[in-house]
Amino acid sequence: MSKLRLGVNIDHVATIRNARGGPHPDPIRAAKMAASAGADGITAHLREDRRHISDRDIDRLMAEIDLPLNLEMAATEEMLAIALRHKPHACCIVPERREERTTEGGLDAAAHHSHLLPIIAKLNDAGIRVSLFIEPSPVQLAVAKAMGAPVVELHTGRYCELEGAAREAELLRLRKAAEHAAELGLECHAGHGLSFDTVGPVAAIPSVQELNIGHFLIGEAIFGGLDGAIRRMRSLMDRARGNMGLTA
Ligand code: PXP
Repeated sequence: MSKLRLGVNIDHVATIRNARGGPHPDPIRAAKMAASAGADGITAHLREDRRHISDRDIDRLMAEIDLPLNLEMAATEEMLAIALRHKPHACCIVPERREERTTEGGLDAAAHHSHLLPIIAKLNDAGIRVSLFIEPSPVQLAVAKAMGAPVVELHTGRYCELEGAAREAELLRLRKAAEHAAELGLECHAGHGLSFDTVGPVAAIPSVQELNIGHFLIGEAIFGGLDGAIRRMRSLMDRARGNMGLTA
């Protein structure tokens, strides 16, 4: 089984920085630490309201970080222009407004098909790997495939929030969606809400190739440091994958 990549989302370092308006804590410093702690990529969401990551953060991430950048963005002309200017390794299209979401929270790719199609095409043409953040549903997967997105990121928020049998049922939905994505030839990522307690079963799904994790890691860093939190997450992922991180 291939090694599972870890993308560390640094948004909430910027959330804490912005609470005071100064430069500390610096999300780029966190990205550098993530790199040395075993992250395979850095994820940052440039929101329309710039509530955490700023335009300058994206400039600096592109200039100062060697790891691939996964830019999360809403499907707007403004964000498209920023992505095309920077040409990050990947762009993950996420919903920002309630009407862009499915009932559960992922991007409603089916309902916004005609709006998304040209944006995906322009990102594809620029050589940026496009991913759509969707619910683990066959309809959303089929639409992502039809629109030419090479990657999907399955929303794990519901799985993380539920408990007991309901969580198991959602895990099964994630597993089936990941298998279906592989059958369709889509690269499959997953993320949202993952923690030390919830990461294992998702990491164990063979066709999931990348997890993007942020909020829990930054929160945990308050108690034990960011380096240790990322290393522990990395090792839980590798253990669940059964490869101890030894295969490339
Ligand atoms: N993946 C996507 C597409 C996201 O939008 C987010 C949240 O920004 C994450 C993963 C990470 O979620 P969390 O911060 O809950 O780990």
